[in-house]
Amino acid sequence: MSQHNEPRGHERIETSNFLMIVLILVAVAIGGIVEIVPLFFQRSTTEPAPGLKPYTALQLAGRDVYIREGCYNCHSQMVRPFRAEALRYGALSTAGEFVYDHPFQWGSKRTGPDLHRVGGKYSDEWHRAHLHNPRDLVPESNMPAYPWLEAAAIDPASMAPRLKALRIVGVPYTDEEIAKAAEDVAGRNELDALVAYLQVLGTANK
Ligand code: HEC
Repeated sequence: MSQHNEPRGHERIETSNFLMIVLILVAVAIGGIVEIVPLFFQRSTTEPAPGLKPYTALQLAGRDVYIREGCYNCHSQMVRPFRAEALRYGALSTAGEFVYDHPFQWGSKRTGPDLHRVGGKYSDEWHRAHLHNPRDLVPESNMPAYPWLEAAAIDPASMAPRLKALRIVGVPYTDEEIAKAAEDVAGRNELDALVAYLQVLGTANK
């Protein structure tokens, strides 16, 4: 009499590497699709917050400096939904405030404070002095100094293509704004641009 002990049902999956791997991938893919796909269609994540405007050419140049200098390695831009966050940084961030950010700068590393609501918190002069040497204003600061930004020019001719690229991914720049992009940054340096960017952060809800 032959013994019949072929694995059946769930045991068959658990004893086969191939089935186990394939079915795990299927389960994770379904879970991912269910969580991620609706966000592309949900209004609260795709509609700009009231008062949100695309970055001006100067602000956009500043945003590019922010990314190039790696400010996101120490600063997040998202006030999380906790009471302590609201008390420290201000109004909680909402998804609609970031629809013109490509890529967004939410981040998670906080060696320094969150910057989403920093717009309007200090004067332009404060930012200029702070970026030149943070320790002049905050003696215990370990933020690096960025003294070269003031001497770095922005190439006006580079701005129209940057706005056009963002228009392709959905930022509603008009032809007029694109035509004026070079003029907007003419004669301004990277420090001007970075300060202009910092000053507009998180101000859409004000
Ligand atoms: C090595 C980590 C580090 C990097 C990189 C860094 N920062 Fe900071 N930043 C800090 C720390 C720490 C503080 C808090 C002390 C201070 O105000 O200097 C701070 C404070 C700030 C503040 C004041 C925030 C507030 O609410 O008081 C601003 C604005 C700021 N940083 C902007 C920038 C920008 C722009 C860059 C990139 C050019 C940058 N930081 C890069 C660590 C960093």
